[in-house]
Formats: sequence, C-alpha cells, structure tokens
Amino acid sequence: MLRELFALWRDRGSRLARSLGQDREAVSIDARHRRCRAAWEPHLAATKRLVLDAAALASGRGTAVVLGSGACLDVPVAELAGQFAEVVLVDAHHPWQARKLAKEIPNVRLVAVDVTGLAGIVRDVAKGRAALPSPVPLPDPLPGLVPDFTASVNLASQLPIPFYSRLGRRLSDEARQAFYTGIIAAHGDWLAGLPGRVCLCCDTAWERVDGENVLERRDALEGVALPPPDRTWTWVIAPRPEESPAYDRQNRVVGYLDFVAAWRGRKASEKSAAMA
Ligand SMILES: C[S@@+](CC[C@H](N)C(=O)[O-])C[C@H]1O[C@@H](n2cnc3c(N)ncnc32)[C@H](O)[C@@H]1O
Repeated sequence: MLRELFALWRDRGSRLARSLGQDREAVSIDARHRRCRAAWEPHLAATKRLVLDAAALASGRGTAVVLGSGACLDVPVAELAGQFAEVVLVDAHHPWQARKLAKEIPNVRLVAVDVTGLAGIVRDVAKGRAALPSPVPLPDPLPGLVPDFTASVNLASQLPIPFYSRLGRRLSDEARQAFYTGIIAAHGDWLAGLPGRVCLCCDTAWERVDGENVLERRDALEGVALPPPDRTWTWVIAPRPEESPAYDRQNRVVGYLDFVAAWRGRKASEKSAAMA
C-alpha cells in the first residue's frame, strides 16, 4: 500500500488523467502485475501476438496507433516501431514505463487524450449544467491523423468505468445504462470508420470461478454484442488468494485481426434481422 502511494506521488497524472482516475489505475495495474506476473503472462503474450499478426496485414507502413497503451505491458512497442515509420501511443495517462519507451525509441510518440471525448461533458452533467448526450456522439480523439494500423488494446470495457461514480444516482438507471452502452458502441463505430487495418482486443466478461464452476459472470461491455472474434482466450487476472482465497477472478478476452470487416458484418446482420 505504501509502495503504491509512493508510486502515485512520483507519477501523478495530468488534470485529465486525475479526473478519470487513470493515474491511480496505472499504479494498481502495475502492482497487481507484479503480484500476478506468471498468471498474466499468457494473456499479455496473446495480446502482443494478436497485435503483431494484425499489424502484418496492414498495407501501409506509415503510422501505427495503439489506443489504451498504458504501461505497454501488452503492447509490442519495439516491434511495431521496427515495422512502421511512426508509432503513436494513445492513453489518458502515460505512466513512466511508456514515457521511458518514447524517450528510448525515436519513432514512438505519446498522445494524452480521452478517447471518448466525454470527460468534460460528464463533469458538466454531474454539476447539473448539461444533459447527457443521446445518442452518444462519435469521438474524434485524433483529428488529422491517418493511421495505417490501429490497435485498441484492452480498453473498450474500461471506457465507461470512470463515469460510474461521477453520474451516481443523479439520472435514471435507464439513462445511465444507455449512456454506458453508447460509449462502447461509439468506440466500435469510430474504430470501424478509421482508415487502414484495425485490430481490437478487449474483455467481454468478468468472472469469479472456482475450478470449472462459474460463481459469477458479468458482461464487461454494457450489453454491446460483438461479432464473432478471430481469437478468444482467458486472462486470469486475480488468481487466488489475490482477491479472495475462495475464488479466482478471470476475464474472457476476444481479438480481431480485421475489426472493420467484423463490425460491418455485425451491422449488416442486425439490419437484415430487423427487416425479417
Ligand atoms: C486495462 S488498461 C490497458 C492495459 C495497457 N495496455 C497496459 O499494457 O498496461 C486500460 C488503459 O486504458 C486507458 N484508458 C481508460 N479510459 C480511457 C479514456 N477514456 N481515454 C484514454 N485512455 C483511457 C487507461 O489509462 C489504461 O491505460
């Protein structure tokens, strides 16, 4: 605990990062990774492999963008930097590990931005000065950038989380739920509209398990149904006794090598189901 407080004191984030709580989150991810390193390794390796396999399918070699890069535990930064002219790491908070990589590798650049574009609006809604946007607008976090390759890495399920406590009980359950679902759907819509190859890796379910027995399962994507993925795996994020001696916590993870095609296929089948 003391070690984490010290780490946070040394790596306090910008106003944006603090408002989304992402500097604290980075310290706790780092601490948990240290404690659960062996259990996390297959997930980190599978994510890096997915990103590199998708990157190999990109037709241009100009700009690669990684969304939700964080400490880059699951991002093959050096390999991407060897394959593209420029690698842009995008996150609300770039902890010291990412800043070190950007210093050491000349074609790696950091962009600090809220990829939902909603932090300011939610602040105003929480103060009663604005209404929640409905539908949730498409974000435009990287204006002017034309990527050849984009990877959204273990980010999608995290997007609504900072807003849970902000919006509290001010709004109806239905309005809040529609907003959280809309945030994740808008991330998918924005990714699917990008030029170049797009890769998505994200968790779809959070589970507490005892061996084969699933004690609890929660949808990680606020009701957004993803199309059939290219790859699936399980991330044992908190093997016992990390969270409890009675269960392990694990995330179900999916990966797409061509998210644009998969998401468009989903939209098309939704349309034909509605017409039938
Ligand atoms: C589960 S972590 C991903 C792990 C990270 N790739 C790593 O290897 O450490 C989710 C990341 O998404 C970032 N994030 C969450 N919400 C964000 C937002 N609205 N805009 C930008 N980044 C966000 C967090 O700061 C965090 O680094």
